[in-house]
Amino acid sequence: MEHIYFNKEKGCLMLLDQRLLPHKEEWFECVGTQDIVYALQQMVVRGAPAIGVTAAFGCVLACNEVAARNDWKASLEKKLRDIAHARPTAANLAWAVEVMLHEQLKGQPESTDDLIKLWLDKAMDLHSKDIAINKRMGGYGAELINDGDTVMTHCNAGALATGGYGTALGVVRAAVDQGKKVKVIANETRPFLQGSRLTAYELEQDGIEVTVACDNACAHLMQQGLVDKVVVGADRIAANGDVANKIGTYGVALAASAHGVPFYVAAPLSTIDIRTKSGKDIPIEDRTPDEVKFINGKLILPENVGVYNFAFDITPSTLISAIITEYGILHKPYDEAINRVCAQAPGA
Ligand code: MRU
Repeated sequence: MEHIYFNKEKGCLMLLDQRLLPHKEEWFECVGTQDIVYALQQMVVRGAPAIGVTAAFGCVLACNEVAARNDWKASLEKKLRDIAHARPTAANLAWAVEVMLHEQLKGQPESTDDLIKLWLDKAMDLHSKDIAINKRMGGYGAELINDGDTVMTHCNAGALATGGYGTALGVVRAAVDQGKKVKVIANETRPFLQGSRLTAYELEQDGIEVTVACDNACAHLMQQGLVDKVVVGADRIAANGDVANKIGTYGVALAASAHGVPFYVAAPLSTIDIRTKSGKDIPIEDRTPDEVKFINGKLILPENVGVYNFAFDITPSTLISAIITEYGILHKPYDEAINRVCAQAPGA
């Protein structure tokens, strides 16, 4: 499923507008930094690896915007900062901008034209590598899934949340490709409904059996023995293995622990931030109350009542059975495993 591509003739980034799925497939055109920041903040595109890929292409558009200015270096720096800080929780956003800056340092381009070319090649490379990484991760993760398993997932960690194929859903796809019969329970994921709108959409298109459940049904479904494994993605993994992921993930992990259901996190190394010591140090995005207060434009609670709309929560590493990466499966103690794998892996 292609949902991000760069249109070279028009010089713009095309994003499948995820706010409108599953019933409308419309493309959102980004011609400059403002469009990129808007698309990230309004969640036209979302999911940690997908926003990383978007940020990489965003650097190309930013450079194009400042190319004619005398002070292009200072203007570019500000635009890259805007992109890197568009959302605070996912590690991949700042990571992607850092990768682009590193590429600039390595390539020493002589003009903005050269820099645009260098960055466009790098952004394309990051995009295709992300798909390859997900497939490799899927192969490792599929070993944890048995024929006949029902896998619960939270939010959308599929093709739409990445360059393609998916992290958590990549594990499911790879298990299905190995000939295993796998059913998925997609938690609805209030308030943006990534589970019911996006995960269900993707899996149905692939012919993988999927059932949507309200978020508050999770513990009951486990108590009834209807869930064999949980596989989720991540927005940031701290050096000690604590995981930030979509709000509600922590509750799913607690329920899984209480019912003896293995709880797996699938994420690429670009989501691991060894500079962040533990979950306590991960900034949690606090989004507009309107996402909770309104459904399809209709106010659903008394007008003056406040709401919480934290977009992510922290699952402590103690609740995680294993972390699936493109370099294999990490086990406890996670601080050691993470150190080892990050030291071994070549840079992007
Ligand atoms: O707010 P979102 O939709 O960007 O949150 C996305 C998630 O929480 C995903 O689970 C995570 O980014 C992993 S995507 C492979």
